[in-house]
Amino acid sequence: MQVIQVGIGGMGNTWLQAVRKSDAVEFAGFVEIDADIARRQAQAHGLDASRIFRTLPEALEAVAADAVINVTPPQVHREICETAFAAGLPVLTEKPLAGSLTDARALAAAAAESGLLCSVAQNYRYRPLSQTVKKLLDSGELGAVGAAQVAFYKGPHFGGFREEMAQPLLIDMAIHHFDMLRFFLDSDAASVSAQSWNPPWSWFGGDASAAAQIRFVNGARASYVGSWCSQAFETSWNADWRFDCAHGVMRVKDDRVYVQRLLRAGGERGSANEHEDWREVPLMSMDRAGQDYLLQEFYEAVTRGGSTGTNAQDNLKTMDLVFGAVAACELGKPVSLIPLD
Ligand SMILES: NC(=O)c1ccc[n+]([C@@H]2O[C@H](COP(=O)([O-])OP(=O)(O)OC[C@H]3O[C@@H](n4cnc5c(N)ncnc54)[C@H](O)[C@@H]3O)[C@@H](O)[C@H]2O)c1
Repeated sequence: MQVIQVGIGGMGNTWLQAVRKSDAVEFAGFVEIDADIARRQAQAHGLDASRIFRTLPEALEAVAADAVINVTPPQVHREICETAFAAGLPVLTEKPLAGSLTDARALAAAAAESGLLCSVAQNYRYRPLSQTVKKLLDSGELGAVGAAQVAFYKGPHFGGFREEMAQPLLIDMAIHHFDMLRFFLDSDAASVSAQSWNPPWSWFGGDASAAAQIRFVNGARASYVGSWCSQAFETSWNADWRFDCAHGVMRVKDDRVYVQRLLRAGGERGSANEHEDWREVPLMSMDRAGQDYLLQEFYEAVTRGGSTGTNAQDNLKTMDLVFGAVAACELGKPVSLIPLD
């Protein structure tokens, strides 16, 4: 499969490497709007400079391709994807699906109308940690999840578009954790309340910290707290987690998974629950993880027919939750995400 990668700076590096590693996908060309970045990346990655174009229409005119990989900032995702669909090409696009919910809905509708696959890079689902957590929850060993707690603290200095967004944490980062919640709980969000703020020392223009309470359709609850301007004791990018389940608890700390099961519930008044000793659960191994997994999944769906786990239609539900949280911050009250009967 021949692909055009649009956006080769920043996260573009990861996709350049993923395609290089793949034995099924190769580059037809590249698009990069910034000439300096194009020059630097051509040198750094040994790219054929004659195949780097300034716009997607120019690239589509000059090279034959089967698909587009979109690694541009969120506000241009819709334009890039719709240009690809108009040329009859499916797209593997970086998250967030688009810069606004309106654009995301229009983009998903355009994909559906064209009959072309639009797959979204929610790569956090496809990591050994997430796959291990999901397998354990699905095994039923701990019973139903009543509540999940997510804590995320990082202090990255990205520069660029994130430092200008009004809601950088919720839209560009919590989107991964919210998508993981949907994946782990096998349910969509029914309502969300949230608050966001920007600590005095923050180097972000918009709100780099947020907290949210989410109610899922299956009855599970989630509490989320996150910050992108934490000054110490940072968590992993995957965040720290706690799942309170009917028969025990799973904890995820520093990308390690721990389980403790209930042995006997205290029955008599004043008698305590008895627990098994806690144990650490080894992480599953994966042949391909993250972007490598997504690329192979996309290739198989495009060449054999079918779809991907994180296609635009599925991803709209993650976008609804993210933008529901943003709306809840603005309104100062809970936002319902499913129509009430
Ligand atoms: N899935 C993940 O884990 C993950 C991690 C980082 C970033 N991302 C996502 O990847 C996307 C890009 O983020 P980034 O950090 O690489 O940003 P970036 O600004 O570092 O890089 C974007 C690149 O796209 C180029 N570009 C911008 N507009 C363009 C256009 N119209 N045509 C062609 N090129 C254009 C820019 O010049 C730049 O080189 C964002 O949507 C971001 O949320 C995802």
